[in-house]
This record gives sequence, C-alpha cells and structure tokens, in this order.
Amino acid sequence: MTERRIRIFDTTLRDGEQSPGCTMTAEEKLLMAQQLARLGVDTIEAGFAAASPGDFESIREISRTVKGPMIVSLARAKAEDINAAAEALKGSPRWGIHTFIGSSPLHMKHKLKMTPDEVVANAVRAVEQAKKFTDNVEFSPEDATRAEPEFLVRLLGATVAAGATTLNIPDTVGYTTPHEMHELITRLVNEVKGADKVVFSVHCHNDLGLAVANSLAAVRAGAGQVECTINGIGERAGNASLEEIVMALKTRHQFYQVATGIHTEHIFQTSRLLTQLTGMAVQPNKAIVGANAFAHEAGIHQDGMLKNPLTYEIMTPESVGIKASNLVLGKHSGRHALAQRVEEMGYTLSDEDLNRVFGEFKRLADLKKTVFDEDIEALVNQNTGGWQGRYKIHHLNAVSGTDAIPTATVELEVDGKIIRKAAFGAGPVDAALNAIKEITGSACKLTHYQVNAITGGTDAQGEVAVTVEEDGLSAIGRGTDLDIVMASAMAFTTALNRLAYRKLNPRRKAAL
Ligand code: KIV
Ligand code: ZN
Repeated sequence: MTERRIRIFDTTLRDGEQSPGCTMTAEEKLLMAQQLARLGVDTIEAGFAAASPGDFESIREISRTVKGPMIVSLARAKAEDINAAAEALKGSPRWGIHTFIGSSPLHMKHKLKMTPDEVVANAVRAVEQAKKFTDNVEFSPEDATRAEPEFLVRLLGATVAAGATTLNIPDTVGYTTPHEMHELITRLVNEVKGADKVVFSVHCHNDLGLAVANSLAAVRAGAGQVECTINGIGERAGNASLEEIVMALKTRHQFYQVATGIHTEHIFQTSRLLTQLTGMAVQPNKAIVGANAFAHEAGIHQDGMLKNPLTYEIMTPESVGIKASNLVLGKHSGRHALAQRVEEMGYTLSDEDLNRVFGEFKRLADLKKTVFDEDIEALVNQNTGGWQGRYKIHHLNAVSGTDAIPTATVELEVDGKIIRKAAFGAGPVDAALNAIKEITGSACKLTHYQVNAITGGTDAQGEVAVTVEEDGLSAIGRGTDLDIVMASAMAFTTALNRLAYRKLNPRRKAAL
C-alpha cells in the first residue's frame, strides 16, 4: 500500500500574523517565508492581499522571491478580494487563491445577513472567478463545525462543481472535538458530490486546546491537508501547531501511516526565528520546541536517560534540530547524573570522593534552582583534596541606611590566615567588595554584576553572578544567600579564587 502524503499548509504569515503581538514587517515576513520554504511546507499562506497595502506588497514580494512552496492569499468571496489576491500573487511560479464565506447559521444570519441560498451563490461566484486566474482554488466554509452538515454537503458540492480543488473545513472558533471532527470529515468525504476529485483540508483553532487533536482526527478520517502555524500562533488561543502535528505524524507513523514533506530537523530553528521576529515567547513546557521539551531534572528520569534515552524520550532532540537533551542538575538529580557531568568536565573521582561531592551537591541544590558547572567544579575542588581556594569568607557585617555611610567589615581566611578589614562604598555591596579587595590586594575589575531572585517574595534567595578581570584573565563567580550582600561577597570571592587558580595553573585556563 502506498503511503498517503499529507500536505502541510502553513498560515503563520496570515492567520498567525493577524493575532495580537505577532505583527511582522514585510522584510520579517519574507525572512520567515524563506525559512518555511527551507522547512519544506507545501503551501505558504502569505497574507490577505485585500486587507491592507502592506499585506498586498508583502505577498507580492514573497511571490517573487520564495521558491518551492505554493504561495496563497486569503480572499473573502468578493470580486475585489479575489482580484487583489491574483494581482499580488501573479509573480509566483506556483500560486493559489483561498476564498471563504461564513457557513453556520450564526455567521450567515448575523455577520453576512444572507440566506443559505445567497451564501451558496456567492461562494460559487467567488470560486468561478478565482478559477479564471489559477487552477489552485481552495474554498473554506467558515465556522464549518457549527454549520448544519446537510448545508455543508450542499455548499461544498456546489463549489467543487464551480472548480474548487481543495475543500478546507475550518473549526473557526475551536469548538469541535476529535470524535466530532472525525465524523464530520468522514461524512463530507462520503457525501459531497465530486469529493473524489478534491483534497480535503482542515483548519483548527485552539480555544479548547484541541486544535492538534482535531487536526489529527481529520487526517485519520481522510483529510489530505492540514493548515497550521509555527509555535501554534494565531487568533485568540492560536491555530494548530505545525511542529506538533508533524512530529505526531512522524513519531506515531505506525498508527497514522502517512508522510509529510517537512524536514523536521529545521523545526527548532524555524520556531526560534518566529520568536525573534515577533517577540512572542514560547512557553517552556510547549511540546517539541519549548525550553523544557527535552530537559530532564527528575533523578529517576536522568538515570533512565543515561541508560537509554528511549526510556523518557519518544523522539530525539536532533530530529527537530535541537543539539542534545539537557540534563538539568538540580535538587531532583541523582548520583548517576552528577557522576556523568563530573566525568564530562574531565574529573575522575573515586567512589568515596563522588559520595562526598554528591552529599554537598544535594545540599547546594536545596538552596539553588539550578546547579551550574562552575558550582560543581567548586564542589569537586573543595571535597577531593583538589584546589581549596585561597580565600574563604568567615564573617561579614554591612551597615547602610538613610543617615549612614555604607560600610562593610569583612573577615577573610587568606591561605589559612584570618584577616579583617572595613571599607566604605556607594552601597553595602560596594563596601563589602571594597573590603574584600583590600584584604586580597586584588586590582581586578568587576566587569559584570547581576542579581536574580530565585523565588518570588521578599524572602527570596538572591543569586548573584559576577565576572572579574585582571591581567588579561577573567573568571566568573556565583553566590546564593538570603542576604544579597552576602551572596555578592560569596560570588566575588569565588571569582577571585578562580582568578588565583588560573594564575597558578595556566594550563587549566580554558576549563575554568
Ligand atoms: O479560522 C477560520 O475560519 C479561517 C478561515 C478564513 C479559513 O481562518
Ligand atoms: Zn483561522
């Protein structure tokens, strides 16, 4: 049996772009269209030519420039819309017109103020007119999932007779469910006159979070085209997400037995480009392209992943263009994951040393959201008789207030000797760092200083990251504490220890 090929009709630049926060300039749309062509979509709906001169121009530019996919413009079932679409698209070697009209009782009565007969007549006229310009005419009965199925059968049959080559069934308001969608497509495929001559398509919105499930149900029922957008952007809750549909069809190939022409390894890059162009961030737990889609923190999961990635991943990150799974080291991580990271960092530890480092790692992970490689390195050095660091904070006291000159007293252990100094500063953090500089005699420059609250609220742990530079060497340090002055002093002292280490061990310069 030959495999059915499902056409991917991308409407990121039309239905996606018309949603709040997703507007793009003509140049940005062109960049996106070129990336969609690289991704291998079959059709790009480049815009709605009659909507604005800007949309018209951008469709024209995409039509002239982008090769590969068919370029399409949306058009209401009106002569002026269809003329505008044809005019904007004619520079493309392969183009089509997508015309639509409301089909539910609600749309016909309240929006169009037309009888069903008038709707059929307008739809037929629009398809016939579009057909004079191009062989590729797609017709959509808007709000189809709330229309009377008998009326849909009649309307769609009339548009096929008028020359439509694709019948697209929109779930305009994201109202339907997978079972209903399956029933509807099955019925239309069986009952629309001339159905065997056309491709059925589906266009789902995500108001109930069912857009992808409904699209997949339509494919199972015989739809040969799916309309979707990158990152699922679109009106209200969005459209069906391209990456989710494509990866569902690919990952569950045995079940669906269909193929698409998408080069899935370009998915992540395409998603990132859209985010950069629109500024519309993807939620971290978004399927396929979210930051956490291939990240694992639970110890049991990390252990499984290290033994065999199939234990907790149903597709590889590489298959969607992500370099590797990410084992995030934090409080849920186990000994196995830590051991692997320590080894990747170039350390060989005895079981006893690893146990000690693991104990300290768990203690630190309770205080910090994420344990970074620099933290692990410090733990290894402190717990394995390796580099201990020249400087260690013993005591810190900072004073500031509306009437006080910010002053800090710091007691530091330097090569085993306790030294105490006080210093002024522009604020308590500055004063503490000045005192540490006096004690260590460091002439380093603080080139980066950043504070993050790890949790919300005034009781949040403060996490400070600093970068220092001296004599052409630089080092970073992090510190976490409820007291932001203490966190800063810890970060600064860690960075100074690393600088000192680098000075003594120039060979390890690159590793720190
Ligand atoms: O959601 C919808 O009904 C549409 C049509 C124009 C296809 O976007
Ligand atoms: Zn839509």
